[in-house]
Amino acid sequence: MLRQLSTRHIGEVRIVIDLTSMSRPQSVAVVGASPKPGKIGHTILGNVISSGYKGKIFPINPKEKEIAGYKTYTAVSEVPEPVDLAVIAVPAARVLDVVRDCGQAGVKSLVVITAGFKEVGAQGLEMEKQLVESCRKYGMRLLGPNVVGIIDTHTPINASFSATFPQQGEIAFLSQSGAMLVAILDWSASIGIGFSKVVSLGNKADLSEIEFIEDAAADPHTKVILCYIEDIVDGPRFLDVASRASRKKPVIVIKSGTSQAGAKAASSHTGALAGSDLAYDVAFRQCGILRARTMTELFDLAVAFAKAPVPKGNRVAIVTNSGGPGIIATDNVEAKGLQMASFDKATIEELRANLPAEANIYNPVDVLGDAKADRYKFALQKVCADPNVDSVVVLMCPVGVTEPIETTEALLEMRQSFPEKPIFAAYMGGETLAGGAAMLAKAGVPCFTFPEPAIASISGLVRYNEVLDVPKGNGNQDLANIDRKGVKAIFYDVIKDNRLVLLGSEATEIAKCYGIPAAPVVLATSPDEAAAEADKMGYPVVLKVASPKILHKTDVGGVHIGLNTAEEVRHAFVEIMENVHGYMPQAVIYGVEVQKMMPKGTELIIGMTRDIQFGPLIAFGLGGIYVNLIKDVSFRLARGLTAREIEHMLRETKAYTLLRGYRGEKPRDIEALADTIRRVAELVNDFPEISEMDINPVFAYENGLSALDIKITIS
Ligand code: COA
Repeated sequence: MLRQLSTRHIGEVRIVIDLTSMSRPQSVAVVGASPKPGKIGHTILGNVISSGYKGKIFPINPKEKEIAGYKTYTAVSEVPEPVDLAVIAVPAARVLDVVRDCGQAGVKSLVVITAGFKEVGAQGLEMEKQLVESCRKYGMRLLGPNVVGIIDTHTPINASFSATFPQQGEIAFLSQSGAMLVAILDWSASIGIGFSKVVSLGNKADLSEIEFIEDAAADPHTKVILCYIEDIVDGPRFLDVASRASRKKPVIVIKSGTSQAGAKAASSHTGALAGSDLAYDVAFRQCGILRARTMTELFDLAVAFAKAPVPKGNRVAIVTNSGGPGIIATDNVEAKGLQMASFDKATIEELRANLPAEANIYNPVDVLGDAKADRYKFALQKVCADPNVDSVVVLMCPVGVTEPIETTEALLEMRQSFPEKPIFAAYMGGETLAGGAAMLAKAGVPCFTFPEPAIASISGLVRYNEVLDVPKGNGNQDLANIDRKGVKAIFYDVIKDNRLVLLGSEATEIAKCYGIPAAPVVLATSPDEAAAEADKMGYPVVLKVASPKILHKTDVGGVHIGLNTAEEVRHAFVEIMENVHGYMPQAVIYGVEVQKMMPKGTELIIGMTRDIQFGPLIAFGLGGIYVNLIKDVSFRLARGLTAREIEHMLRETKAYTLLRGYRGEKPRDIEALADTIRRVAELVNDFPEISEMDINPVFAYENGLSALDIKITIS
């Protein structure tokens, strides 16, 4: 394993990684520092100096005695004082020697700027492995290789070759793309966004977003954490760290690229339903990460969190001086799952008494095109004070009488008076409103040109409220009636039989071991045996061909239902054998499964597909043969699945409406369903060898459930 753990558990003690020597070093060596402008080593040294770094600076260059007025050393080991951080910018072929020298000199942390490692192929990968091994040997932590560097505006230090040193701020930005990072820094300077930390993650050979999320979560200067990532190397650890971090401060992630799972797993319904990117979506949501879909959204949200309070609820008020934008904003509020606030009676009366008769006094409040600052101020004051309003969006279009500066002053006054309610603005114009917009930017009030991003940002703030709302602990009781040994024994037999797909009877046994209610199934190898089993079970029964090679049994004439006598069973046995031999002469047939025919219930699916990063994903939805067509399915990670998450999972589906009793039907046993989902999650967590599982259909009744068809594949 290349990666060291940032957080180790020793008994009950949690040791959290200390990145002080990386972002707040006492001393820095720049290896490859150069007196020549245009060289990366020149820029890095210049950046460290010009950032106002207060610690000691040691340029390292074998040919120079002094660079930029600093005594220069031929190697880090020649520096007569301790070095916390070495920033390395020498050609790839020399990096390993330099790292060894740093190790021998007792350097604590390294930033390897140099490119040409695993990103260039096998030779580079080998070099990267040696680089990590060397860091391990000397106990050094490594950022990189292939990075722009690291910036901390509060230390301050700019140990990077970025052309821009950002303003001080409260946003920590971690980026797997160096190009994206420098572009954002340049852009941020032009619009006044500030950062607490900026980290280029590069090849993530040692430290990754995981350690830096943990570090930023503990950093008092950071209010919100932003990540641009392309992959995650250690899913479970990421989830663990992100879950804790997101409860402290918002973690917003934009993830490019798609996961490698999903597509390959299309042999099960669940696998086919889980799109390639779904696992990330589910994992992020479950650990409280807010996922941004675009870079614009990422930064809009960042600014919102850095500058605005998190509202108490999702009720939005809009104050506008024109009807059209008010309607667009209203549509958007609904599209984003927010609610248009219904004003208090007193608010409506006040607005009615004081605004012109043509004004709309209900939400969205239209103060009309001729509104000057005083009318805006009055409306805003009333709306902000309304207890049914959680956040406010102010829209302004420039007409001849609009007073952008005075209106902005009124808005800023409201912000002072109602610090607990976010007030966002969309100034829909250019030059005329620029002065007002600049005032807002200076005062840290998010201001947009159009309403949609303002409302998207409020929606992000509200989503975070839900993250904070998650109770501590998982609320789960220990499950009773779990027989792990029984499952192991069945797997043992299956593997001995050289199979990966379980027979229905075996899968049903496994379900029983975990208390998953399933219709009884017995394997019979002759017509008489089938008839005898059916006699024992009680009629009616169903017969299904037992063959691991046949996934869709109905398609090959391998299923007979509603058999009421021993004679019918014998007959059906023979017919199934003939059908299957006709369709699939090569298929190995183990016999025929006799299953108790269950009364019809609401048809559901519970399934599992395994994601390469995050492990098993549990699916729940409407079942039956149209499952892939209807796609009424919700997903959750099995890992740490809580009772609360299961409840949310159920509620997300249309099936839930059916289960609660649709059009006079009796409600179904939702409690038994939630318990079964938990049991399936427990089973697949306990047995990583289960690669896929589908229970389709599960019949849900007024009392209890019954799994009718269980498919389990192991690897
Ligand atoms: N110790 C200290 N200094 C050393 C050294 C050593 N062992 N070996 C060489 N140097 C000095 C060189 O003498 C040179 O100084 P000079 O300018 O005074 O001659 C300096 O280090 C740099 O070496 P040089 O051979 O000139 O390399 P370079 O500057 O052309 O390239 C990198 C070095 C690291 C910039 C280059 O290899 C690289 O990786 N570039 C891509 C960086 C990148 O894109 N990173 C990812 C961003 S997302």
